[in-house]
Amino acid sequence: MVYASRHGTTKEYARKLLKLLDGNVDLCSLDERANSMPDLSDYNTIVIGGSIHYGKNSKLVLKFANDNIEILKTKRLGLFVTSHFDGEKAMEQLHNAYPRELLERALVVNYFDGELLFPKMNFIEKMVAKLVLKADEIKPLISKPKITDFANKLNELYEV
Ligand SMILES: Cc1cc2nc3c(=O)[nH]c(=O)nc-3n(C[C@H](O)[C@H](O)[C@H](O)COP(=O)(O)O)c2cc1C
Repeated sequence: MVYASRHGTTKEYARKLLKLLDGNVDLCSLDERANSMPDLSDYNTIVIGGSIHYGKNSKLVLKFANDNIEILKTKRLGLFVTSHFDGEKAMEQLHNAYPRELLERALVVNYFDGELLFPKMNFIEKMVAKLVLKADEIKPLISKPKITDFANKLNELYEV
């Protein structure tokens, strides 16, 4: 499982997913080791997680997906993002968040509820959260049913 996280929400989802997935799972933070990733050929399944800021997925996640696109196409894939918005807007962001070839091949693709952790934001981020995202309170929540469903699908499809 490979992820990048600005304020820790995507990391939290990745850690929760780790516990729900069958098999031996390694967790790799692109924020910490983008230049020393394990050999992807050792894995049959790759889950990638990023977060949406200003409408886009994390640059580190996009770089990882694009740099490794050929090998990723041969893997069992799960793709997710965390985002403040839900519904149609979230789906639109999600479908721009990863290369189309990967989205089409992935076994599971979903977005999870983001958090707006004001104490961790800088001044500009706070302004954006208030004025653009129209959020004025801390929104700490990790959506358990959605990650359970995401993990179950990856686990179930493993049997086939
Ligand atoms: C400055 C800023 C911009 C954001 N822009 C968006 C956005 O365009 N769309 C969205 O759905 N969520 C947006 N969010 C919400 C984040 O996706 C959400 O906080 C997410 O949980 C962050 O995860 P992370 O801490 O793992 O990076 C934004 C948050 C901040 C602080």
